[in-house]
Amino acid sequence: MTTTSKTSSVMISVVACFLVVSMSPSPLSAHFGTTPNIKHIVVGRCFSYITLVNPGVRYDCEEIWRQFEEAVVQQASCGVAVEDYRHMFQAMPQTWACDRFLFWSKTRTLIHDYAAVVRRFWTLEDTLVGYMFNDLIWCGQQEEWDFDFGSCPQWSACMDHPVYSLWRQASKNFAEMACGNITVLLNGSIENAFNRNSMFGSVELDGLNPHRVNYVNIKVVANLDGPFIESCDRGSIVDLIHILRFRGFRWTCSDNDQILMILQCVQNPEHSSCRMCADSLSHGNTTFR
Ligand SMILES: *[C@@H]1O[C@H](CO)[C@@H](O)[C@H](O)[C@H]1NC(C)=O
Ligand SMILES: *[C@@H]1O[C@H](CO)[C@@H](O)[C@H](O)[C@H]1NC(C)=O
Repeated sequence: MTTTSKTSSVMISVVACFLVVSMSPSPLSAHFGTTPNIKHIVVGRCFSYITLVNPGVRYDCEEIWRQFEEAVVQQASCGVAVEDYRHMFQAMPQTWACDRFLFWSKTRTLIHDYAAVVRRFWTLEDTLVGYMFNDLIWCGQQEEWDFDFGSCPQWSACMDHPVYSLWRQASKNFAEMACGNITVLLNGSIENAFNRNSMFGSVELDGLNPHRVNYVNIKVVANLDGPFIESCDRGSIVDLIHILRFRGFRWTCSDNDQILMILQCVQNPEHSSCRMCADSLSHGNTTFR
């Protein structure tokens, strides 16, 4: 394969992946109630998952929905705790092969493109529960056996938020399952790239088991335009490394991963940091002819 065709096939798959992977949890807004048609979406995604995405796995999608509904409806909109989803999670046990776990925090613009290009990676959104509930909002109402389609509280408004509780448990399960080499993608363009209050810092990190995890490979990625605030030896990443050391993990850290750079260049090929990439591309064109 020439450089040109290799590079362009990477680009094509990257572009294709933007379309496929554009759904990921978005910040919840107070004015929105439960996502309309939630039942059809959730059950449909479940069937899509077991039929198309991951054929061969067997789940009872209707039963999972029933357990979900049981946990949420007729509860106060801030009254669904992590434990309330216990039966639902019991209906959807899942295990993964080692060396594939990808964690992330504040890098959502890149993470799914990265997972799509480096195909061995799996994120929480690739698990059944992540796939089913990605991007959805829901809350119940105490007086009625139904969801509240009028309005739901903001994610940060309460501890027992139905959406937050589900993601917390899903994240915990995902982290506890993690084994072999795991990868953590953090954003070098913000303060507190490693944030103890994020899902990674508050739930997933604590769920990781040093006896199951071989290496924690940290990748810090900054925007092409910067700012370049944190790196492997600067800012909160240093705290993360301290915690990992203290808990007996082996780790590596890189803040100049080439694939992550190229992925950003695909979206912004004219950027000066991407010149080298573009130059070798046109060079490839010449030899191709
Ligand atoms: C880093 O975070 C900022 C602010 O949330 C965001 O705009 C940017 O896209 C993130 N960068 C990467 C590489 O994910
Ligand atoms: C795990 O990570 C370490 C350190 O980066 C590396 O040397 C090793 O080859 C990796 N193993 C696998 C199976 O990827």
